[in-house]
Amino acid sequence: MKKVGFIGWRGMVGSVLMERMREENDFAHMESYFFSTSQAGGDAPKVANSYEKVLSATDPKELLKMDILVSCQGGEYTTEIFPKLRADGWKGHWIDAASTLRMKDDAMIILDPVNRDLIQKNIDKGGKNFIGGNCTVSLLLIALHGLFKENLVEWVSSMTYQAASGAGAKNMIELLDQMKTVGTSFAANPSMGALELEKQMNVTMDSPSFPKQNFGHPLALNVLPWIDSELPSGQSKEEWKAQVEANKILQTTKNIPIDGTCVRVGALRCHSQGLTIKLTKSASLSTVEELISNANKWVDLVPNNKADSLKRLTPAAVTGKMHVPIGRVRPMTLGDTYFNAFTCGDQLLWGAAEPLRCVLRMVL
Ligand code: HSE
Repeated sequence: MKKVGFIGWRGMVGSVLMERMREENDFAHMESYFFSTSQAGGDAPKVANSYEKVLSATDPKELLKMDILVSCQGGEYTTEIFPKLRADGWKGHWIDAASTLRMKDDAMIILDPVNRDLIQKNIDKGGKNFIGGNCTVSLLLIALHGLFKENLVEWVSSMTYQAASGAGAKNMIELLDQMKTVGTSFAANPSMGALELEKQMNVTMDSPSFPKQNFGHPLALNVLPWIDSELPSGQSKEEWKAQVEANKILQTTKNIPIDGTCVRVGALRCHSQGLTIKLTKSASLSTVEELISNANKWVDLVPNNKADSLKRLTPAAVTGKMHVPIGRVRPMTLGDTYFNAFTCGDQLLWGAAEPLRCVLRMVL
């Protein structure tokens, strides 16, 4: 059996990956070794065929023995360790959630429901570096797969509503802490009317003691229209990723523009996106709906009505779920090749952990 090493399995993406692997009985197909940057020597998780002790993730000696390494440890770890392993002659498969290697020529961005055939070809040709895509990109492509497959997409404008989890576990907890703080302030002023309360909440959010070390700003009762670093183009790095990663995943011959504004909102772990889709030619609503809903096993077309949209097309409805709903699909008044849509998906499942799990099984 192949030796598979896991790094970063305690973090959020890693924990979701472990949970999914247990559900799918994946550990039965490999020998598992668990690595840690801080807790080497401790007991490893009890899964089938696992080595009982946690190994050091910063000691190349043990890492070099692995046939496959799966990292959810983050970009800094990849930047530091991956080149060293390759320089030491390691020829194993590297499967990674971090963005560090995504745009490298010898790395493939993996998204099983959309580019499984291309992944298989890459494995057959001896490809070794498989990297999960940005979460909004992966969820967008699963939702719109049917239109991309038919070469019906001229461009997409995607306005995102991204959950706190995308910024990390500490940020998720900070959002809840912020909510608790405004809730406590509300509870302390039971007789105030709505406008007075709004002023009171602003005082609370402006207070130096308001918890915002991680986000730097209030996210509770607020939205933050910038995610990741600034680029000279005026885009945020998160916005830049949409087009470059999507085209790489699809291996398009002609670049499909995808751009929009990425916004952090107070959801916990599901990213939503409002889409304007420009088609390459006019198509009826029923054709667009049919293409979208038949594209892959995970996309779930929600009828464009109020009751279904509010029940099935929200972060609260989708959290912890594998399917990726897309709804609000309708022609726009902008012209007969413009369609509106809204999609929502679990940022830690198809947005992060699941593509890694799928490629691991394929490599095995
Ligand atoms: N960059 C994403 C976010 C998360 O900040 O929401 C992971 O792709």
